[in-house]
Amino acid sequence: FLPSPPPRTANGDGVPRAVPAPPATMRTLLEERDRIRARAMAGGGAERQHRLGKRTARERLDLLLDNDSFVEIDLFRRHQEHGLSAPSQRPHTDGVVAGSGTIDGRRVFVYAQDFTVFGGSLGQAHAAKIHKVLDLALATGSPVIALNDSGGARIQEGVPALDGYGGIFRRQVAASGVIPQISVVLGPCAGGAAYSPALADFTFMVKGIGQMYLTGPDVVEAVSGERVTHAELGGAEVHGEHSGVAAFVREDEVTCLADVRYLVSLLPGNNLESPPAAPRRDDVHGERPRFAEIVPVEPNRPYDMRDVIAELVDDEDFLEVHEDWAGNVVCVLARIDGEVVGVVGNQPLVLAGVLNIPASQKAARFVRFCDAFNIPLVTLVDVPGFLPGKDQEHAGIIRHGAKLLYAYCEATVPRIQVIVRKAYGGAYIVMDSRSIGTDLSLAWPTNEIAVMGAEGAVNVLHRKQLAAAADPVRLRAELTGDYRSELMHPYYAAERGLVDDVIDPARTRAMVARGLAMLRDKRKPSPRRKHGNIPQ
Ligand code: HXC
Repeated sequence: FLPSPPPRTANGDGVPRAVPAPPATMRTLLEERDRIRARAMAGGGAERQHRLGKRTARERLDLLLDNDSFVEIDLFRRHQEHGLSAPSQRPHTDGVVAGSGTIDGRRVFVYAQDFTVFGGSLGQAHAAKIHKVLDLALATGSPVIALNDSGGARIQEGVPALDGYGGIFRRQVAASGVIPQISVVLGPCAGGAAYSPALADFTFMVKGIGQMYLTGPDVVEAVSGERVTHAELGGAEVHGEHSGVAAFVREDEVTCLADVRYLVSLLPGNNLESPPAAPRRDDVHGERPRFAEIVPVEPNRPYDMRDVIAELVDDEDFLEVHEDWAGNVVCVLARIDGEVVGVVGNQPLVLAGVLNIPASQKAARFVRFCDAFNIPLVTLVDVPGFLPGKDQEHAGIIRHGAKLLYAYCEATVPRIQVIVRKAYGGAYIVMDSRSIGTDLSLAWPTNEIAVMGAEGAVNVLHRKQLAAAADPVRLRAELTGDYRSELMHPYYAAERGLVDDVIDPARTRAMVARGLAMLRDKRKPSPRRKHGNIPQ
């Protein structure tokens, strides 16, 4: 017979050890539990984080979630790499606060990296917690929100940390198009870690504190000799204006997390649900003379398409995606008659509203997102064409433009096209024309829909005639006039079924709302296949 071993208990630093055995009561056990818990909740303390101008992970979750709705998982989890770290170097949470809560009463899953614990770096336990959050979000059909603030792979853990990242990426891809994924960059997000925001549907960044890059300033200097700051390399402005990685850039954490809540309020929990609808609107049927005041009749006079959108949507209220990147196309989420819609519009204020590479990429991803999550699309067309030139051709405008074409062709949600002014050539086709599957096409009477503008067309068609003319100026004026009156009006397209109705601009909001109501029960099964092959 062996003597019975002494009782063991976990204590504050978490290593089970023999202790003299005072008789445990529920009260002493709870006191011990409260001590461990309080230490875990404190992480590395708020002071350093505040000094860096950042909130702690828990403060961020308080801002993001409804009051008292957070259910934490794996609070006591810690890494098991005993060989590398002393027990005191095994803080609970392992640098990430994970769980679930609600936003306006709707379920979301969340994780917030805690920079005060191992610099928020990702080791095996940290990754396993994120995997659990992603698995639960997918299983319950709930959006997932990641608050990133991390030094990247935990260097002292080696390859298991990389394995942890792989597990995150694989889960994100499996969840893509099934649950909305939102990433918020509130600190460093370096190395391969940056692929997690890149795989999300929307990435937010906060100016001054958010940074994302694959290789940091030291590596850049070692490789190329170029000296750059963290902010110059991958600050919020860089990703909001140049790379297009950040869909939303905000001045501070409070505004940012409030806008994450706003975004969630416009999204369904998953791809089998519809986005949350607000009450129907009485003001939807009235006339809106401002439409015609905003859009000049002259085809080349600029105006701000966002003014048209404000007039179209409920309460002039919309959330613009990629506000500072590829401004020649505008993509917003908003409501019309209470129903969430995605609006894509050419922007005559920037580059005359042409489609170029970034604009095609931006609009294509937005269209695909809306289609995946049952958000009807309203496309406001005023486009002179694709941007011509060597730069664009060499950089692959053909394949990038094809992405937008592909995205629209593939979309099965209700689709309404409103041709506000001009629509030329390939860009006309791409901007959700009848030929690629729009359900309802409305045109204003000012429309110019054609293969190209009158001047260009006359040059091609009548070059010899013009060269031989006694008065080429007069002849050109006559020929462009003929071209305009014969081909460049909406009735030419409407007679051929390419436009469903020529509407009074003042009725645009009413007609779009009616169209959405007409299409509300649209179902369009896709052919069975593994998946298509979107242009590269
Ligand atoms: C372990 C880390 C860490 C990491 C930071 N820390 N990054 N610990 N692994 N990757 C720790 C620091 O040692 C420090 O601990 C604490 O976090 C805070 O870091 P500081 O350097 O003091 O903070 P700061 O000056 O604000 O600088 C932040 C930083 C810097 C820019 C993120 O820490 C940094 O450059 N870290 C390394 C970044 C990196 O190269 N990561 C690997 C990327 S490769 P103490 O105890 O002193 O407080 C990668 C591959 C992923 O991630 C591949 C996926 C496919």
